[in-house]
Amino acid sequence: MSDNLISDAEAVRLRHSVRQYKPDPIEPSKVSLITDLIREINAESGLGLQFIGDAGKTYNRLFNRMSGLGSAPSVIACVGPDDSSLDRRVGYYGEKLVLFAQKIGLNTCWTGTFNARNLDADIPAGQRLVICIAIGYGTGSGRERRSRTAAQISSAEGSRPAWFDEGVNMALLAPTALNQQKFLIRLNSDESVDFIDKGGAFSQVDLGIVMRHFEIGSGRKQIPD
Ligand SMILES: Cc1cc2nc3c(=O)[nH]c(=O)nc-3n(C[C@H](O)[C@H](O)[C@H](O)COP(=O)(O)O)c2cc1C
Repeated sequence: MSDNLISDAEAVRLRHSVRQYKPDPIEPSKVSLITDLIREINAESGLGLQFIGDAGKTYNRLFNRMSGLGSAPSVIACVGPDDSSLDRRVGYYGEKLVLFAQKIGLNTCWTGTFNARNLDADIPAGQRLVICIAIGYGTGSGRERRSRTAAQISSAEGSRPAWFDEGVNMALLAPTALNQQKFLIRLNSDESVDFIDKGGAFSQVDLGIVMRHFEIGSGRKQIPD
């Protein structure tokens, strides 16, 4: 089934955060696609991302129940070695999973707010649970939201090549905590690109997500370190 999937760029355009889910569990065939990809990602990145089939009471906090997230059937726990790049790497690799979920017909929502005590994740010594991703079949597919403009989130020394603009356009569609979009993508005269964190909750996770989107649009590999 992974052979006939839509492209990453198409998945970016279709994806929106979904907070209301049907009770249906994710079928075993799709669970194994997700867990295969998680295994690959963990091997490449050293992260300890985990698919948790039964979200249980992960989303029993008031804010989660009000938004509908309490209905999410499953969750991906984003765990990894607690170093200075952990949040960025979780954002970058977690977004690969989010976009893959979109491709196989599932919906997701990154969630910084959840009840960590109720989440059955394995957190080895020296590692940290950064954030979760709610996953399942949405009752809808979410909706478009307001966005900053390319001029507000990017700058270039000199002219802007098409690949840079395409990367920035994909970055504008990246999910960020509270839709804050507090980042700047800067093209330097030597054609290197800097991703600048302008602060805010989970802004380093946001930056990793933005790097993955920029990579899809620009075709230029970005590795968060
Ligand atoms: C790092 C991060 C943390 C988030 N935390 C939450 C959350 O706790 N609860 C929630 O309902 N949405 C959360 N979101 C979803 C954002 O509100 C959403 O991505 C943003 O409003 C943009 O909308 P979109 O994803 O539909 O493009 C989070 C998103 C990110 C990237």
